[in-house]
Parts: sequence; C-alpha cells; structure tokens
Amino acid sequence: MEQDSTKQKLARGAWSSQAGFIAASVGSAVGLGNVWRFPYVAGENGGGAFVLAYLISVALLGVPLMMFEFAAGRRHAGGVFGVFSAIAPRAKYAGAGIAVIAFLILSYYAVVAGWTLGHAGIMGLGIEPDFEVFSDSWASLALFGVSVALMGAIVLRGVQGGIEVASRTLLPFLTLALLAIAIYSLTLDGRERALEFLFEPRFEALREPRVWANAMGQAMFSLSVGTGVLVTYGGYMRSQTGVRDSTALIAGADTVIAMVAGIAIFPIVFTFAVAPASGPELAFDAMPLLFEQLAGGRLVGTAFYLLLFFAALTSMIAMMEGAAGSLADALRWTRTRAVWTLLPLLLLTGSLSALSYSPVHLTVFGEPVLDRMDSVFGTFGLLLSALATSIVIFWVGKPQAIADEIGPGARGFAGKAVIFVGRYLVTGAITATLLANVLDAI
Ligand code: ALA
Repeated sequence: MEQDSTKQKLARGAWSSQAGFIAASVGSAVGLGNVWRFPYVAGENGGGAFVLAYLISVALLGVPLMMFEFAAGRRHAGGVFGVFSAIAPRAKYAGAGIAVIAFLILSYYAVVAGWTLGHAGIMGLGIEPDFEVFSDSWASLALFGVSVALMGAIVLRGVQGGIEVASRTLLPFLTLALLAIAIYSLTLDGRERALEFLFEPRFEALREPRVWANAMGQAMFSLSVGTGVLVTYGGYMRSQTGVRDSTALIAGADTVIAMVAGIAIFPIVFTFAVAPASGPELAFDAMPLLFEQLAGGRLVGTAFYLLLFFAALTSMIAMMEGAAGSLADALRWTRTRAVWTLLPLLLLTGSLSALSYSPVHLTVFGEPVLDRMDSVFGTFGLLLSALATSIVIFWVGKPQAIADEIGPGARGFAGKAVIFVGRYLVTGAITATLLANVLDAI
C-alpha cells in the first residue's frame, strides 16, 4: 500500500527536497496578495487594527487549515478533486468546485500580473505613467498573453524542473528587491507616520466586524488556503518532509513579506500625502506617480514592478497546477495533458477580464469584468472554497487520520486541540465572514 502510493506519487511528480517544497509553497503564497492587496486592504481598514486582526487570522485560521491541507494532500496524493473523493466520494463535487474557482481567480490574476510587467517596462523605459492611457490601450490583453505564456512554459517543464526551479530562482531576487525598497522607504520623511499607521493598534477598531471579515479574507487569499493549491502541493511532498515545520516556515515567510511590503509602500504614500485608502489602484495609479518624483525613483519603480511580477508568476503557477491536478484526477489524464487543455481555456476566460481594461471596456452588470471577477470569485468564491475545504477536512472526513499524517506529535492533545479549532473556530469564522459578505452585498 505504502509502496503503491510512493509509486503513484513519483509518477505524478514530487519535490526534490523539503527546501524545494518550501520554496514552491512560499512562491505560491507570496504574490500580488502580499505586495499589492495587503497594503491597500490594510489602508482601507484603518492600518494597525487590521494588521492585528490579520495576524490573529493567520495564526488561528490560516495555519490549522494549511497544515491539514498539506497533510490531506500528502496522504491521498492528488489534486483537490482526487483527494476530496478519497476522503468521501460525495466530497468530489466540492473538489471540482474549488478547482473551478481557483481557475477563475487565476484568469483575472494573470491580467493584473500582466499590468505589473507593463509597469516595470513603463518605469524602466522612462515612459510617462498614466493608468488611464494604459487601460485604454491593448496593453492589458497583450501582457496577459505574455504572462500566461511564461507561466505555461514553466508549468510544462514539470514539478521539479519547472515549478521548483522557478521558485528557487525568483524568491531570493524578490525578497532582496523588496528589502532594498523597504530600507529605501525608511529613509523618507513619511516613515514615522507610516510605522505608526501600520503598527499602532487601535483596539476599538477591532470591534468592527468589517475589519475582521477583511482580515480573514486577506489571510485566506495570501496563504492560498482553500484554493486546492496546498492540497495539490502536499500531494508532491515526500513522506519524510515535516508538515508542521514547513507550515510554520511558509506561513511565517508569507506574513513577514506582507509586513515588509507595508513598510516599503506606506512611507512613500505618506511622504506624498496620498490617501492610504485609495484602493486597488494604489499600486498602479498612485505609486508610479510617486516613483516619478523620488530621487532614483525610476530604478526603484522598475525593481518594485519586476518583483511584483515574479511574485505573481509563482502564484499563477500554483493556481494552474491546482486546477490541472484536479482535471488530471477527474479524467485520469497526465498533468501535462491537463495543462495543455487548460491553457487555451485560460486565454479565453482571462481575455474577458483583459478586455475590460482595453478600448472595448467590457463590463458585466455595469462593472469592468475584472473587478466583477475579483469580487465574485476572489472574495466570495474564495470564502466559499475555504468553507468547503474546512467542512470536508474537519467534518466529512476523518480529521484524526489526517492529523496522524502530520506526525506522532499530532496524535495526542495537540492534535485534538487543532482539530477542535478547525471544526469550530475555522468553520464558524469562515461561515460568519461569508454571511457578513452576503449581507454587505445586499
Ligand atoms: N496567495 C497568492 C497571493 O497572495 C494568491 O497573491
């Protein structure tokens, strides 16, 4: 039985080592969510109070789910569809739904990734930055195509040769570039206000349910929990790789990088008196204008957008792998065949989002397609996927069997405590957030 599962795993692909697995998983977690989304959501939700709620959400919700997703993936070796069917046959529908949502998130995420590449070019070539002009051209569509082509080329090179090598190469560059920008930002006049804004908790703001809902949503998005990606990456884990240590490292690295991104961005924002709550366009509308005015800003700006692109690329790879793994499970295909089938579909679906930022200005119910996709799938769909994941893992399946996969330490009180947290706190908090979002939408 053990031999069967090892053989099966090697046929599907496996990480070369624990370091390779961690690099790929950190690459999956660290993305636009950390550098683009975290600062603007923190800005919109009052800074310090949000950061505190975010840290609590990562520790209490993100970490238990991440650990159990990896363990479930390793135990059953498959994409989210295969793993959930192994947990309980009827759970495969949840697995299929999660894979579809991850694919739809990827479709517009790849468009935003294209914007980061475009802005690296704008900064590097010294072109006047103007987001309106940019989004009135065909640049979004063309750059989306480039991002998907690059992602496809990496994913098709395989788990070790493609995903692992790309993550190991891009992560150090990304971390160094972000650190350099943060150090540079800390020399600006706005640093004190920025640090105060980010790290001085206003405890009264923690009474606002909206702050908690946004913090939890952001924690899910950033850690990639509930997207099927962690289950799929867990499926490529070797049995000697430690689930607990890896989870701590991956969640820790993701959180530190989000904080460093905040430290890199907010001093610039406060130095030039931009509203911290200027929303999603903060990185594409406000920041290029600010980079223009800084000494050496074009160089800093080029590095900023390049690192954002690399971060996005490794997350795109993970979402593609998550969707392809499930398609391969469902139709008993090889992962390569699944990737080749999904690539044209991705080009088609993502083009709709790209066209909403082109001369066509494609809208759906009066909103650009991309914005609609982000609110429907990136926020609501993701919460639904996370809820389905926690129900399948902590309620439908046998959580103790998954805990056993984590290691001998998870058999005693510690394992039982995490299962209790998963069952009641994680499932309950996601349900409450989902309801708050529905009420908010109404
Ligand atoms: N976890 C990825 C990010 O933060 C999707 O962007």
